[in-house]
Amino acid sequence: MAACPDVPFPEEEPAEAQHVLECLSRAEGLRDCVTNEHEALVGMIAGTLCEALGFGFGESQIVMRAAQLHDIGKFALPSDMLHKPGRLSPEEWAVVKKHTEIGHGILSIEGSRFLDLAATLALCHHEHFDGSGYPQGLAGEAIPFEARIVAVADTYEALRANRAYKDGVGHEVALATILEGDDRSKPDQFDPKVLRALEDCAPIVMQRYDAGRRVLSGERDRARGSGEP
Ligand SMILES: [Fe+2]
Ligand SMILES: [Fe+2]
Repeated sequence: MAACPDVPFPEEEPAEAQHVLECLSRAEGLRDCVTNEHEALVGMIAGTLCEALGFGFGESQIVMRAAQLHDIGKFALPSDMLHKPGRLSPEEWAVVKKHTEIGHGILSIEGSRFLDLAATLALCHHEHFDGSGYPQGLAGEAIPFEARIVAVADTYEALRANRAYKDGVGHEVALATILEGDDRSKPDQFDPKVLRALEDCAPIVMQRYDAGRRVLSGERDRARGSGEP
């Protein structure tokens, strides 16, 4: 998990939780800085959506931090599959989908409210409101609300991001794709309440996303310049 710009760790969380997250972040970043940065940005957008949905500041911060671990299960996937420039085969796709359950397994530690939420988000962020998602095919309110929020944030970041196999789109195109759908994404996949919140806070999402991406790419350039991975 790369650092999220200008956002303090929630005061309710003990210092050890910060340290554990930092260790996870370092390990994950060494393996896969693309996913690491994606998670930081998804967390930031999820936190912004929480604010628009009326969550308190502390709750929004906790969801933001937990969302920054949502793809940690990718840690266990083969690198060539994670960053493959072309389409994945059905067999490869079946393996990639397992990152949800792997992430849940990594984060499932009893007694921590924070990790419990993080494990839930890891497991459920690819569930769709219309029941067409994975891994369990949950629908509607059977999907934890925070996971419905992260699903929207995850899609926004995935659309905007540059990847080995595609160029990212601008804010307006990403927004229209989520709200109106295209050949791969349908609005029915998302909780309508979260879509309304996205519309409400779209200018803030754009501003924070663009600023966050600038900070993260600056960090990456500095790490490369100093010889760090
Ligand atoms: Fe994912
Ligand atoms: Fe993701």
